[in-house]
Amino acid sequence: MSEKKLILKDPGSGKELELPVKESTIGPGAVDLGKLYRKLGYFSYDPGFLATASCASRITYIDGEAGTLLYRGYPIEQLAEKSTFIEVAYLLMYGELPDQEQLTSFQNIILHHTMLNENLKKFYGGFYHDAHPMAVMVGVVGSLSAFYHDSTDVENPRHREISAQRLVAKMPTIAAAVYKRTIGEPFMYPRNELSYCGNLLRMMFGVPCEEYEVDPLMERALDLLFILHADHEQNASTATVRQAGSSGADPFACVAAGIASLWGPAHGGANEAVLDMLAEIGDVKNIPKYIEMAKDKESGFRLMGFGHRVYKNYDPRAKIIRDVCHQLLNKMGNTHDPMFELALRLEEIALSDEYFIERKLYPNVDFYSGIIYRAMGLPNNMFTVMFAIARTVGWVAHWMEMMSDPAQKIGRPRQVYLGPGKRDYTGLDQR
Ligand code: SDX
Repeated sequence: MSEKKLILKDPGSGKELELPVKESTIGPGAVDLGKLYRKLGYFSYDPGFLATASCASRITYIDGEAGTLLYRGYPIEQLAEKSTFIEVAYLLMYGELPDQEQLTSFQNIILHHTMLNENLKKFYGGFYHDAHPMAVMVGVVGSLSAFYHDSTDVENPRHREISAQRLVAKMPTIAAAVYKRTIGEPFMYPRNELSYCGNLLRMMFGVPCEEYEVDPLMERALDLLFILHADHEQNASTATVRQAGSSGADPFACVAAGIASLWGPAHGGANEAVLDMLAEIGDVKNIPKYIEMAKDKESGFRLMGFGHRVYKNYDPRAKIIRDVCHQLLNKMGNTHDPMFELALRLEEIALSDEYFIERKLYPNVDFYSGIIYRAMGLPNNMFTVMFAIARTVGWVAHWMEMMSDPAQKIGRPRQVYLGPGKRDYTGLDQR
């Protein structure tokens, strides 16, 4: 079949330009605008990248209208039900589901890289006692560049793999230490006989003076949350990691940049903002007032955990998390968690309101995840840290994909300049 082309005509010069279409395996293709400036003298303009493909990728596919999410072609619902986070990490990083030998080997590598350099722990003591955990995460993960620089030749595939594995392995240990710092308890060393999530639970909630029994229910719930949060195409933080990495920057520094972007309340910081919002709403009777505020642009208030740039249908992850919420709270005995009840009523009322229906604003992945983390005993300001642990897999998978592309270039967008034209300097006495 001949290559699809788009014909552009410049109304000013009457010039025409044929632009090739880059076809996809599923979903929309993209018009290759590479020649646009050279031939017609125009830039493309798409602030916020609402209709811009920044790259070609084989990792994750989202159909926002249908509410579909595929990791390397596998539906998120099937992975959530049948897989594990470590297996999903292998799938996202290497492209295929591992066989038993590959899975065992990968699991051993990850579990044997969980320890931190003892000197790195000194950083934690330098932060203010009430620093936000995400501020500490940005600092500590960025500092990995100062410790693990034996394998950071980004042109070397083996070095890239070692750095990626180190990041996936060490994030739980770093995050657990961030939490321990906030509560003034001693850091816990990882235990290699535990699972990825079992290790994290023990490092967060265990103490040196007694044995810690991993609750299989919490372990499975955490593993499932991590599967759902592992990757999501070119979201803001992944795009940040790609952009930082495009200059050949150190991989640990690139992931620190991704953590910084994820922290924003419009992105991964929303899970913390949801619980803060539910606490502010306080009671079902106040919901209508907040729904009205969310519809009033002047109020500056948004319903956190609602809406998504891509999903114009239910976020498939939100549906799965909502069910896990029900099961976990029931099994943990707090079936009437007021926050969960409030969240269910808020969802019900919002989804029957014309404003939300018209704008296709549905609950997203952040709407319910915080309720589970809270049920596990974590404070609100640790929720985005948990998101960062899981999303590290997506960040390193995209970084590896980008850096292994021989055609990879530094990302250097242009602009539409609206500032003053050229003018001469005037001395102070003339102003
Ligand atoms: C994540 O990109 C990803 O994939 C992200 C993520 C991932 O896995 O990486 O899925 C994780 O970040 C999920 C999103 C978490 N953020 C929140 O829950 C914060 C609240 N939601 C929003 O601020 C907003 O919906 C965004 C940021 C998520 C999406 O914003 P867009 O696509 O830029 O949409 P927009 O701001 O242009 O809004 C379109 C309309 C506007 O109204 P009109 O101007 O058309 O009248 O919808 C309104 C907005 O005012 N709107 C909301 C709203 N979200 C959008 N109104 C009230 N409450 C909201 N939450």
